[in-house]
Amino acid sequence: MGCLSLPTIGLVLLCSMVCTVSGIGANWGTQTSHPLPPDTVVRLLRENGFRKVKLFDADYGALRALGKSGIEVMVGIPNEMLQSLATSMKAAEKWVAKNVSTHITSNNVDIRYVAVGNEPFLSTYNGSFLRTTFPALQNVQSALIKAGLSNKVKVTIPLNADVYASSTDLPSGGDFRADIHDLMLAIVKFLNDNGGPFTVNIYPFISLYTDANFPVEYAFFDGNASPIMDGGMTYYNMFDANYDTLVWALQKNGYGNLQIIVGEIGWPTDGDQNANNVYAQRFNQGFMSHISGQKGTPMRPAVQVDAYLFSLIDEDTKSIDPGNFERHWGIFTYDGQSKYPLNLGTINSGTLVPAKNIHYLDRKWCVMKPSAKLDDPQVQLSVSYACALADCTSLGYGTSCGNLDARGNISYAFNSYYQKNNQLDDACKFPNLSMITKSDPSVANCRFEITMEPYYGGAERILGRLQKPLSLVFGLILCLLTIL
Ligand SMILES: *[C@@H]1O[C@H](CO)[C@@H](O)[C@H](O)[C@H]1NC(C)=O
Ligand SMILES: *[C@@H]1O[C@H](CO)[C@@H](O)[C@H](O)[C@H]1NC(C)=O
Ligand SMILES: *[C@@H]1O[C@H](CO)[C@@H](O)[C@H](O)[C@H]1NC(C)=O
Ligand SMILES: *[C@@H]1O[C@H](CO)[C@@H](O)[C@H](O)[C@H]1NC(C)=O
Repeated sequence: MGCLSLPTIGLVLLCSMVCTVSGIGANWGTQTSHPLPPDTVVRLLRENGFRKVKLFDADYGALRALGKSGIEVMVGIPNEMLQSLATSMKAAEKWVAKNVSTHITSNNVDIRYVAVGNEPFLSTYNGSFLRTTFPALQNVQSALIKAGLSNKVKVTIPLNADVYASSTDLPSGGDFRADIHDLMLAIVKFLNDNGGPFTVNIYPFISLYTDANFPVEYAFFDGNASPIMDGGMTYYNMFDANYDTLVWALQKNGYGNLQIIVGEIGWPTDGDQNANNVYAQRFNQGFMSHISGQKGTPMRPAVQVDAYLFSLIDEDTKSIDPGNFERHWGIFTYDGQSKYPLNLGTINSGTLVPAKNIHYLDRKWCVMKPSAKLDDPQVQLSVSYACALADCTSLGYGTSCGNLDARGNISYAFNSYYQKNNQLDDACKFPNLSMITKSDPSVANCRFEITMEPYYGGAERILGRLQKPLSLVFGLILCLLTIL
């Protein structure tokens, strides 16, 4: 829980000194078949000391749950809405009224930023959002001014680090991508004029994934990489070099002091040979230590890196076009359980606090029948069907279930489909091939999931209401302990 939400003024002051040490944020994505209730997620954020959260849209339930939580919020506008916001001032005003003003005034949500689009200039989008992003940014800013909110709420655009590059492979060679150079300058000027930060997503994992020659050690922070020298600066990790490439790009174009937010940074735990708990822990813990203690990058040594971890929880319905790892970025599993120890430098001191009061379905799984034959022509069809509609990203070389035998693979696919369909009997009727079992087929760290009860929103659990007073008292004690 964020200590700042405590009502006692003296404590708040003392505590804000103690508790704002790192002020780490988290991305809360919701592309999942079985979402956790928003109140559960907000409690998860608070109990782990997250001070800030970044959303990809402006979901009413999420924002309502964030009301009075003391957590700063970046609300998001999906790329699909950019066109209408770019072409209609009325649409922008409506968006701000409904998705910002209301939540601030009647719900006490601490909205600080509006993220206009999400990585809209990714080259895989073929330029689809090149014409609409900047006008949408301008209209949203005008709407915020009109609503009297522009002092408190700043606009930004979360961009992929591919909007800049270095001509020399060193940070000092940094500049904006040639094909969007003028557009980037117009955006940067606008952000600068309106007090908006430059938000960038930086992913050493993707560099490693896409480039077989990328030096693995350089992705991490523990100093085993051969350093790269750039003028008087020494770079021991890719994050610093990438961040400073942006600093150089900004500086070269006259905006060397523009505020930078790292909108996404993290490491996935499954779906690829380099995606596992060991690497994810090494990266995320390394990053947390790296940015703690007001340490910046070589180009901005005195500026605390401001960052949002990607991501809070796994999302099993994300597109796997970028790779099978896409569904495994969470520091928590889809059901809010921690994957590995992580010291966030907050009240959590090393152990992540898992989500509470999770309601699972029965302990049963759908597996391949022992009597079914591997060469049954229905097998391939059934597995393809199950994997297309459920999630088989934990199968494959170097993944958590990569060592299953052929029967194990088939069972994994069947079970994924069965759980995704809430253990419906009909979802375990692959012709003559499947059966329901009560004995857990999980082996080693290959987990055959049991899903959670679906959450339909609305109806609040009694516990949800009891939670607040209890956590206030608990927070007070923790704060006192931290100070003493
Ligand atoms: C508010 O945000 C939600 C979620 O992104 C969106 O569906 C809705 O259209 C927005 N409302 C307005 C009035 O634009
Ligand atoms: C971009 O273009 C490629 C090739 O023309 C196409 O396969 C892909 O679907 C396009 N992507 C988008 C987002 O339009
Ligand atoms: C299991 O499935 C994965 C992913 O489809 C595949 O790469 C692997 O070869 C399969 N293993 C066996 C033993 O069939
Ligand atoms: C299932 O197996 C039985 C006996 O082996 C067979 O008669 C039946 O046709 C099979 N059903 C399907 C849907 O393949």
